[in-house]
Amino acid sequence: MEETIIKLRDVHKSFGSNHVLRGLSFEVKQGKTLAIMGPSGTGKSVVLRHIIGLMRADSGLVEVEGRDMTRLTGKELSSLRKRMGFLFQEGALINWLSVGDNVALPLRENTDMKEAEIKRRVTEKLELVRIPGTWDRMPSQISGGMKKRVGLARALITDPDIVLYDEPNAGLDPEISRSINDLIRDVQQKMRVTSIVVEHRIPCIRTVADEVLFLEGGQALVQIPPSEFFNSDIPRLVQFLGPDASARASALDQ
Ligand SMILES: Nc1ncnc2c1ncn2[C@@H]1O[C@H](COP(=O)(O)OP(=O)(O)OP(=O)(O)O)[C@@H](O)[C@H]1O
Ligand SMILES: [Mg+2]
Repeated sequence: MEETIIKLRDVHKSFGSNHVLRGLSFEVKQGKTLAIMGPSGTGKSVVLRHIIGLMRADSGLVEVEGRDMTRLTGKELSSLRKRMGFLFQEGALINWLSVGDNVALPLRENTDMKEAEIKRRVTEKLELVRIPGTWDRMPSQISGGMKKRVGLARALITDPDIVLYDEPNAGLDPEISRSINDLIRDVQQKMRVTSIVVEHRIPCIRTVADEVLFLEGGQALVQIPPSEFFNSDIPRLVQFLGPDASARASALDQ
């Protein structure tokens, strides 16, 4: 039996009167990838922020590698963060830092790695996301698709064991999307990472996910393999995905 790496149990979170998470529970095992899908504003990004320790649950349990995220000291949290990568939905590049310096940031902030080693690693990651030689460009000078890749390089720079991707495909053309999906899959396989991908696009989910969780009303409606998810006859899923979801998903297998 694989170890449980990420575990949420009966998590509640409100912002004022907005009760976003209402008893959410799920688990992700070692080396697996969970896709989270659900309507806009349902709390998908909020879930990821709880796992990375940027938000605290009002009640319930959030555990990463067996550690309760609400009880970690600042030092423990920063050592855990070193082993987690996070691709922010908005990209979140720092505008006054070059591409290379953006990617280097987690190493400079969380490790005492020598500058030569940082240079080597950043160069390698820029190659991995297929934008070699872009170190000196500024975020304002690159396209949206390139910003996503820079964000991805930054998420992977510490060779994390856990990676959380918030809509890695949003705003990308189909060709770049495919290369990002392949990259996510390569990272899973080569580095045996445990990951969560918030994503709506069927090709991405088909490529990377072991299971799909549908989040609505602050709870998990289902957590099932993609093949079952896209062929489900649960009325709410059919309504959300549209009537031809199963045909679109199986067309990808041809
Ligand atoms: N820091 C915050 N302060 C107050 N409310 C917040 C905060 N972060 C999120 N919310 C609220 O929580 C709810 C869920 O937001 P979240 O960003 O997680 O949605 P989402 O499912 O990721 O949506 P989308 O698909 O559009 O990205 C929204 O109503 C949002 O306004
Ligand atoms: Mg979001």
